[in-house]
Amino acid sequence: MQDDTPELVKYATLNIPGHDPIELPVLRGTMGPEVIDIRALGKQGYFTYDPGFVSTAACSSRITFIDGAKGILLYRGYPIDQLATKANYLKVCYLLLKGELPDKEQYTHFENEIKHHTLIHEQITSLFKAFRRDSHPMAIMCGIAGALSAFYHDNLDIYDPEHREKTAIRLIAKIPTLAAMAYKYSIGHPFIYPQNKLSYAANFLHMMFATPSEDYEVNPVIARAMDRIFILHADHEQNASTSSVRLAGSSGANPYACIAAGIASLWGPAHGGANEACLRMLEQIGTTDRIPEFIARAKDKNDPFRLSGFGHRVYKAYDPRAVVMRETCHEVLNELHIENHPILDVATELERIALSDEYFIERHLYPNVDFYSGIILNAIGIPTSMFTVIFALARTVGWIAHWTEMQEMPESRIGRPRQIYVGKTLRQVKGGRSRL
Ligand code: ACO
Repeated sequence: MQDDTPELVKYATLNIPGHDPIELPVLRGTMGPEVIDIRALGKQGYFTYDPGFVSTAACSSRITFIDGAKGILLYRGYPIDQLATKANYLKVCYLLLKGELPDKEQYTHFENEIKHHTLIHEQITSLFKAFRRDSHPMAIMCGIAGALSAFYHDNLDIYDPEHREKTAIRLIAKIPTLAAMAYKYSIGHPFIYPQNKLSYAANFLHMMFATPSEDYEVNPVIARAMDRIFILHADHEQNASTSSVRLAGSSGANPYACIAAGIASLWGPAHGGANEACLRMLEQIGTTDRIPEFIARAKDKNDPFRLSGFGHRVYKAYDPRAVVMRETCHEVLNELHIENHPILDVATELERIALSDEYFIERHLYPNVDFYSGIILNAIGIPTSMFTVIFALARTVGWIAHWTEMQEMPESRIGRPRQIYVGKTLRQVKGGRSRL
């Protein structure tokens, strides 16, 4: 089979009493489980019911593969741990967008293109000033990302591949500038402009921590850790925020508006907001002797509390990103000579207890990527409210890669789920006359 056309392997027969048997094609991709193609069911008068899309593939995709049972994550076929240790974020961006790792010449060209677009339209700075200083930076990011379409409307023909590429470059280049501006605005500091001689990650740290009166010397170990956080968050197939981007984009909406939809979806504590929630939880626990109390709460069905940073919809084995993130976490703490870090002590003990507790073992609840990323970001000096912004920054390439792929796929249609209606049956307003 071609790598972008699922192969028809057999037919499944659906027997519904009172209805002729319905033959449904069973498709196979290049990897992963076989998939029953139910597209014809609607015409037979039936819908499928799958809240949370637990058993539903909404599209076919060439970008990212996850085997949750085995703890495997591949970007365009390459294992995440190899990319995290042997590539850098911009190479991974190129890979996600174009399908192959760049050669030297392609990389230089791509990096130059990104650097050429790091500045934002100066008028966007006035938009920031319309927000309250104490706004959550994710609220600012939702608003500003959508507003970009008002500034860069010269390349908004979604059917033109050159326009799509230009938009992808602009988004990847500008999002760190906007993220750092959201932070600077919240602390009342002047915005710091990008320094294109720096690497992508180092430039972000510079925009976060330099001031007009003081340079910020970027520590290469910290820049590398930041780059790794970006790589590990760059894509994760059809998660809630990527699906939001695809759904918004399926109507033909402009890509900046779609990215704003992705940012909004990512903000929730069950998704990208988990790294912020996790750090706040570790702070709330405070000392290791309080861990049993929180473990008991996590297990109590009458208590909505969950251990943030544990569990994943898809991974039922150790999250492969968490393995790399754990190592990076220790590198950063060593580099910064942080030994007796109370948050890390709580995190280490929490991880130990949860991994040996029957409740967590039975439900395959392992620490996820957010469990460690929060500790690293905290050690670097990034405020907790910026954690999800950094996730959004890194995931922008995944969102735009999926949005682009969707535009290129002939199977793409407007997304329109159905429902089981369980509300009132037909009734009349007093004095009303229905034609039904
Ligand atoms: N703490 C305690 N119990 C949990 C947790 C947790 N973090 N996560 C799941 N469970 C339990 C559930 O109560 C349920 O128990 P039951 O079978 O006795 O009813 C069982 O494990 C299965 O949980 P579901 O909610 O069905 O799993 P789902 O796939 O819907 O949820 C999710 C996945 C949202 C990630 C969940 O594990 C969670 O809320 N985790 C905490 C938030 C978090 O860390 N999110 C980050 C995800 S990674 C990312 O976005 C990068």
